[in-house]
Amino acid sequence: MTKVFWFFGRSGAGKTTLARNLHRALLDRKVPIFYLDGDDMRQGLNSDLTFTPEARLENHRRIAEVARLAVGQKLNVVASSMAPEHGQRDTVKKILGDQLTWIYVHAPLDICMQRDPKGLYQRARSGKLDKLINYPFDVPRPEEREHYIDTVAQSVEAASQDVLEIVQASLADFAI
Ligand SMILES: Nc1ncnc2c1ncn2[C@@H]1O[C@H](COP(=O)(O)OP(=O)(O)OP(=O)(O)O)[C@@H](O)[C@H]1O
Ligand SMILES: [Mg+2]
Repeated sequence: MTKVFWFFGRSGAGKTTLARNLHRALLDRKVPIFYLDGDDMRQGLNSDLTFTPEARLENHRRIAEVARLAVGQKLNVVASSMAPEHGQRDTVKKILGDQLTWIYVHAPLDICMQRDPKGLYQRARSGKLDKLINYPFDVPRPEEREHYIDTVAQSVEAASQDVLEIVQASLADFAI
């Protein structure tokens, strides 16, 4: 079955880093793959959306619908977004069903704030962006954290290897 591997977790947890490595590994093995990063979507297709709860839900609905279109063309998908709230994850799950595999990328908030790859925490601290730090990250449900990658305990290389093992277990034509 064609699959969607969706990385979620806090800003700075390492989603894009690991998603890009997976994308590269799949391309190298000639596995049909489409890469969807929430940031790229926000800059283009979703650039009309704000950050209200409704808009964040709509952002996820659209990413998931694009993923669904790709899957319909027999393209596997690597997707990445924070999806911090249950509602967003529920929307994604409703659209993608059994084709969806969650990969929860975790680092504690203080480490994410040190990494701050996009400067979001800095902007939040200086009052330019009030939502990010304060909005809670809903603890993933058991089925959402079946594949849990700890990016503090593991290097990028080790974490990327774990991701490949997750993918190998669910993609018939993929071998590490
Ligand atoms: N084991 C690891 N896995 C992934 N990234 C790691 C790891 N250890 C350190 N890092 C670093 O953490 C940072 C994570 O940044 P990245 O852009 O991947 O985060 P993100 O989760 O996509 O954040 P955002 O939601 O803001 O897009 C990178 O600088 C990366 O090099
Ligand atoms: Mg990212």
